[in-house]
Amino acid sequence: MSTANQRVVDHYDSVYLTRDCFNQDNRPYRAFITALVRKAGIPLGSRVLDAGSGQGYLSRYLSDCGLNVWCSDISEAGLRSLDRYDSVFRGKRIVADMLSPPFDAGFDLVFQRSCSLFNTAQPGKSAEVVERLADCVKVGGVLCVVYNTNLSGRGDVWFNHTLATFRSAFATSRLSDVQIYALNKVDTVAFGSYSFNPVMTLVNVVLSKFVHRSFEIVVLARRCA
Ligand SMILES: C[S@@+](CC[C@H](N)C(=O)[O-])C[C@H]1O[C@@H](n2cnc3c(N)ncnc32)[C@H](O)[C@@H]1O
Repeated sequence: MSTANQRVVDHYDSVYLTRDCFNQDNRPYRAFITALVRKAGIPLGSRVLDAGSGQGYLSRYLSDCGLNVWCSDISEAGLRSLDRYDSVFRGKRIVADMLSPPFDAGFDLVFQRSCSLFNTAQPGKSAEVVERLADCVKVGGVLCVVYNTNLSGRGDVWFNHTLATFRSAFATSRLSDVQIYALNKVDTVAFGSYSFNPVMTLVNVVLSKFVHRSFEIVVLARRCA
């Protein structure tokens, strides 16, 4: 394993072994995932990969939507946290570096939220991550990347991407119907899947100039080749 990856593993292993890290066991994130699955049009029973699943809060919400969810993360400790969901993820947890994914293109939906792989100021690196995630999506399936950011284009420990970074990272001929949104944490509680629209995105971009709280960039794209 590279030194950079080992640093990531050491960091997340130590965090995951001591506490519930992202505190996403809450109503806004459940509403967010439910709205996202509806917006993406993913049918019940679809095969889904949560790539960089961490402690699996969002994997569980995806599973609660009736999806057949597989979890992968570079941190084994993160995947072990999924024991708390009993048998839901039994046999469906894989320790993997998503830059060399051990999967074929077998998933109807590949979902990723705030994976450290996008935590970089170098646009070329983000484009490479998109390609590797797209490798795991069936032709006709959906790739969904969500990234926690204040939309400023700055950051030290966590890089706060703008919409433009993701627009260029998704500019590959293997993906079509690329849609990019900016949401805040409560949009989907109030408006469900209607939150994914250009007006709401514009409102949140403007809001981000005044309110330095977290937003989520959401990218949806269909694998076409
Ligand atoms: C900020 S956490 C987000 C976890 C989860 N997606 C969530 O939203 O709660 C980032 C996760 O990305 C994982 N990660 C970082 N680099 C990775 C890589 N190269 N391959 C797979 N997972 C990676 C980390 O181990 C960590 O669990």
